Amino acid sequence: MEQTKKDITLENGNRIPTDETARQYYFMEKARKYVEELAHKLGRKPTFCVTTFGCQMNARDSEKLSGILTAIGYENSENEEADFVIYNTCTVRDNANQRVYGRLGVLNSFKRKNPHMKIALCGCMMQESSVIEKIRKSYSFVDLIFGTHNIFKFAELFITCFENHEMIVDIWKDTDQIVEDLPVERKYPFKSGINIMFGCNNFCSYCIVPYVRGRERSREPKDIIREIETLVADGVVEIMLLGQNVNSYGKNLKDPISFASLLQEIEKIEGLKRIRFMTSHPKDLSDELIDVMAKSKKICRHLHLPLQSGSTRILKEMNRRYTKEQYLALARKIRERIPDIAITTDIIVGFPGETLADVEETIDVIKQVQYDNAFTFIYSKRTGTPAAAMEQVPEEIVKEGFDKVLKVVQDTARERVKLWQGQTAEVLVEEINEHDASLVTGRMSNNTLVHFKGDVSLIGKIVPVKLEECRGFYYFGEKI
Ligand code: SAH
Ligand code: SF4
Ligand code: F3S
Repeated sequence: MEQTKKDITLENGNRIPTDETARQYYFMEKARKYVEELAHKLGRKPTFCVTTFGCQMNARDSEKLSGILTAIGYENSENEEADFVIYNTCTVRDNANQRVYGRLGVLNSFKRKNPHMKIALCGCMMQESSVIEKIRKSYSFVDLIFGTHNIFKFAELFITCFENHEMIVDIWKDTDQIVEDLPVERKYPFKSGINIMFGCNNFCSYCIVPYVRGRERSREPKDIIREIETLVADGVVEIMLLGQNVNSYGKNLKDPISFASLLQEIEKIEGLKRIRFMTSHPKDLSDELIDVMAKSKKICRHLHLPLQSGSTRILKEMNRRYTKEQYLALARKIRERIPDIAITTDIIVGFPGETLADVEETIDVIKQVQYDNAFTFIYSKRTGTPAAAMEQVPEEIVKEGFDKVLKVVQDTARERVKLWQGQTAEVLVEEINEHDASLVTGRMSNNTLVHFKGDVSLIGKIVPVKLEECRGFYYFGEKI
């Protein structure tokens, strides 16, 4: 790694690079020695486990943490009775937080049995000061806490954690840094998430993400392309471009570029077979993007287009910046241009002030758009967001609306998925079926799951499969 002239020289003659990537490699080298000593003491290679709570962006961050732990000499284990355990947390809804607190108690019992065990917490929940206070008070066995903005300095924090015996807490309020080229350990050899941007500027009134992930920052296109080329050379055939609102990608770069143009550049990468992306904010979805998708041979026939509510009044309160009619017109345009596309969505029920009449508006949109799948969430009050100060909806009303929405979502999705019955689809095989080892499980371009007879040799391959039997939201098929 190239070092800059301004490197810091320590008393012992060692130089700490100032270039951030080089600096972190310096700390990884140092960490390797600590891990070697630990391995000697234990008489075996120490193990790690990174558990992800939350979205694909968190999952990608976890792969980066795993990359560093692997690089410094730990062995990956799925088991939380490991020597280094990280919880990469989510705080989008309160139930995500509660799961973390619940499981921390169990980690403590593992730590009592293994005095060498280190416990680290990171991710979105750690950006909330009330959470840090609670952990300091009630979970003092935690060794290291860091946030979303300084995850790139995990190697450095690891050293601090090994050299000190009290709880290390390092949380930044924000950052404009994007640190490239740190190690990554992928969960799947054949597919990978790629961050194209970080943070969010939209401030939907219910949502905590802009507060815990900071302002929107796009990566340079050349860095993204280079990362994908490296992944493809390493066997990746499908990528998922990640951002809270990919449609506003590139607007703030020194040389601005649209998301649609980025996709066209990525399409040219030889050997790459499938391109997915997530998430699209309806207010920023351009005609240019629809055109590029319609013509593309690699962009998957799937668009996740979060609706949140079908009531224009509630959408306004949510600060979503589109109306019911605008959303419907957009969905119609997409279906006209790309008839075989699957549209999926997110819906919130129980936003402050929502009545059952508003819920009917949401149901009307579901029926008109005919989603292939929809995630329905009960509104969760997040401290510090504008919606938290609004009048909350009584639980019984929320429950009634939620059950209604869920039923319509499931009925329409079932109808949509059934439309493929008897056809042949290209399926990327992902894994051996969880319940029946004689089957493999894969995904169609439109993201529908398909199970069919096959073995481990098919994993990572795209094969034609006849869709024989629709079982609700997935298919049983036969390879042809
Ligand atoms: N950036 C993405 C969404 C990220 S959060 C977008 O704008 O579409 C994923 C989903 O969680 C959101 O689409 C929303 O449906 C849901 N969500 C966010 N905040 C929530 C809250 N306070 N209560 C319930 N659901 C919420
Ligand atoms: Fe949250 Fe809205 Fe940003 Fe999505 S676009 S992350 S829902 S604030
Ligand atoms: Fe959760 Fe953070 Fe993602 S709050 S949904 S993990 S950006």
